[in-house]
Amino acid sequence: MKLWAGRFQKETDTLVNDFNSSIGFDARLYKQDIAGSIAHATMLGKQGIIEAHEAEKIIEGLKAILADIEDDKVEFSLDNEDIHMNIEALLTQRIGDAGKRLHTGRSRNDQVAVDTRLYVKEEIPVIIKQVLDLEQVLIKKAKANLDTVMPGYTHLQRAQPTTFAHYMMAYANMVKRDVTRLEDCLERLDECPLGAGALATSTSPLDRFATAQALGFAKPTDNSMDSVSDRDYAIELLSALSILMMHLSRFSEEIVLWCSWEFKYVDLDDAYSTGSSIMPQKKNPDVAELVRGKTGRVYGSLVTLLTVMKSLPLAYNKDMQEDKEALFDAIDTVELCLPVFGAMLDTLTVRPKNMAKAASGGFINATDCADYLTKKGLPFREAYMIVGRLVNMCIKTGDTLDTLALKDFRAISSLFDEDVYEALALKTCVNERKVYGGPSKESVEKQIALIEEFVQSRQK
Ligand code: ARG
Repeated sequence: MKLWAGRFQKETDTLVNDFNSSIGFDARLYKQDIAGSIAHATMLGKQGIIEAHEAEKIIEGLKAILADIEDDKVEFSLDNEDIHMNIEALLTQRIGDAGKRLHTGRSRNDQVAVDTRLYVKEEIPVIIKQVLDLEQVLIKKAKANLDTVMPGYTHLQRAQPTTFAHYMMAYANMVKRDVTRLEDCLERLDECPLGAGALATSTSPLDRFATAQALGFAKPTDNSMDSVSDRDYAIELLSALSILMMHLSRFSEEIVLWCSWEFKYVDLDDAYSTGSSIMPQKKNPDVAELVRGKTGRVYGSLVTLLTVMKSLPLAYNKDMQEDKEALFDAIDTVELCLPVFGAMLDTLTVRPKNMAKAASGGFINATDCADYLTKKGLPFREAYMIVGRLVNMCIKTGDTLDTLALKDFRAISSLFDEDVYEALALKTCVNERKVYGGPSKESVEKQIALIEEFVQSRQK
């Protein structure tokens, strides 16, 4: 019999039973559900809303159920719809009448809200830790490649010289923002909706501050209608995760490019690549591609939840049960991607020679050539024109700026001298970019120090 059977004269149709049930995917909230129920029962007992011995019995019963679930001894039933009713029904079945008092002053609406927040509160630090581990890999790769000159691109065209270390620190800064976004989300969701009831709290003297504290929340939520209607925290988390995955997808894309024969800037470790079933020569970057692909899945979850919540009137609506699969799937996906991505990056081999070779083609030092002339007093726009003409000339003759004869330089501008070659050397181009945030060795070392400091501050 349903917990809510009283008002009904017919059994629920089996089609509806199956359709309505969420136990198939919310069972994973059992720990949070039991923690919420223990906090609620403790408070009910303290407030004299139920007898102290009943509260004790409930708490003991819940603890036993928790142990049994963890020992895989409990089978949930579809008839009991969701994790909340499954546990309550099991409790009453085990301890009798006291179990029937647990739901005093409570609704599944605040129950599911508190369970989900607790769940997210536990998972965000797991993800943060994984991102910090990725930061460590980025730091390691950067430190090993401070002098590894490579082309930087705009429009995927060789643009200006940079180093692999500078590149790694770009991603380090991107994922640093991911960490702070996750922290921000964690801070805002740290309010306890328990005690909001269905939407309007209760006529019993619930102590919401006590339950909030017992569950480790900073405070109770301030409005009971908002408490049961709100899924902002899930949407915020999904958007933070989407941005994080967007970063990983960009990185993945670069890795796919870099390990292609066209680039050959990096080699993936054999343990982090796969072969082809037909082409014996193939070594494929499946990990990077899958991470790139799974990004779509996480975006999908965000769009699902935004769309589920769109136009929903206050307060709880059953539509909101659809939040869980999207939320869980996104969390699972991110937690799956981060470690394997980090390990792939950690084990990849950088090919500095190929990077340097690519950097010496494509007139990557053209801006530096213009800068050379500006340092000799020419306005930048005029210098830019002159170098444009030089590049045009080189393309015709098959030269590069560093191999062009001095007389050819001087034919276009008498400001050119022997020192132009030193100015155009790739190492100079990189290491003269000492501006804060730039690719010179000393600038990148500063960037590394900042990320190291950030990681350390989060590991305390
Ligand atoms: N299984 C439901 C969910 O996940 C729990 C809340 C149900 N509340 C209700 N009034 N039917 O959203």
